[in-house]
Amino acid sequence: MDQYRDFAFIYDELMNEVDYNGWVKYIEDIIKNENAKVQNILELACGTGNLTIPLTKKNYDIAGIDISEEMLSVAREKAEKEGVELVLLQQDIAQLDFDITNLDCVLCACDGFNYITYDDDLENVFTKTYELLKEDGVFIFDISSFYKLSTILGNNMYGENRDDIAYMWQNYFDDEENLVEMELAFFIKDEFEKFERFEEVHQQRAYTEDEILDMLKSSGFKNIKVYGDFTFEAPKQDSQRIFFVCKK
Ligand SMILES: C[S@@+](CC[C@H](N)C(=O)[O-])C[C@H]1O[C@@H](n2cnc3c(N)ncnc32)[C@H](O)[C@@H]1O
Repeated sequence: MDQYRDFAFIYDELMNEVDYNGWVKYIEDIIKNENAKVQNILELACGTGNLTIPLTKKNYDIAGIDISEEMLSVAREKAEKEGVELVLLQQDIAQLDFDITNLDCVLCACDGFNYITYDDDLENVFTKTYELLKEDGVFIFDISSFYKLSTILGNNMYGENRDDIAYMWQNYFDDEENLVEMELAFFIKDEFEKFERFEEVHQQRAYTEDEILDMLKSSGFKNIKVYGDFTFEAPKQDSQRIFFVCKK
């Protein structure tokens, strides 16, 4: 499936309203709350480095993994511009293969795990993560909630018409497989003021909190906290982003 190919080059522009500085602060607050000593971080599904780069600037040693070479190429270009050195690897996290163990922290932000659509694959990522972490290491990730994927994105259509980018985004929710298929059509203005069209189909799996908790427990994690929407409170029925914080 073609995901995050051409889209990679406009991803940051379309995400320009996301408060990544606030996201970094929330991650650091979680680390503080957990009394975790974190120097190194493995970031899964790091994309264009929107968290990788600011976290590196805060002196964490980070390696980022993503399946999309195009997303990584944008991350590399941004890092070079900002004079930041990053270790970036192209890999499918469903077959996570990382040499360094005893990690302080593994991170996956902005619904990277919703792209892992099979239970076995996601449980495999959790098990590998458990093996890679040091004793007391911390695993921090978020998912788009079942509510968001089934009801808000659901079978709805979205669109935006900016000066140089327009898109149409049609979703289909399969309530047997709990999968949302997103058909995205983008129109990008070129140097001749003509709009070029490209399309991508993305698929995300809606997981319930209980499904994720069961998989984490089967992978060995015991001390698991669940928070809703950048708070330190339990998710509400209409929370859109669910954060999981687990210690080995
Ligand atoms: C919504 S983006 C999030 C990117 C980044 N974490 C951020 O906060 O901006 C989801 C990312 O997951 C990556 N991804 C999806 N499936 C993946 C897989 N199987 N293995 C590794 N990365 C994957 C995509 O390439 C994309 O970069």
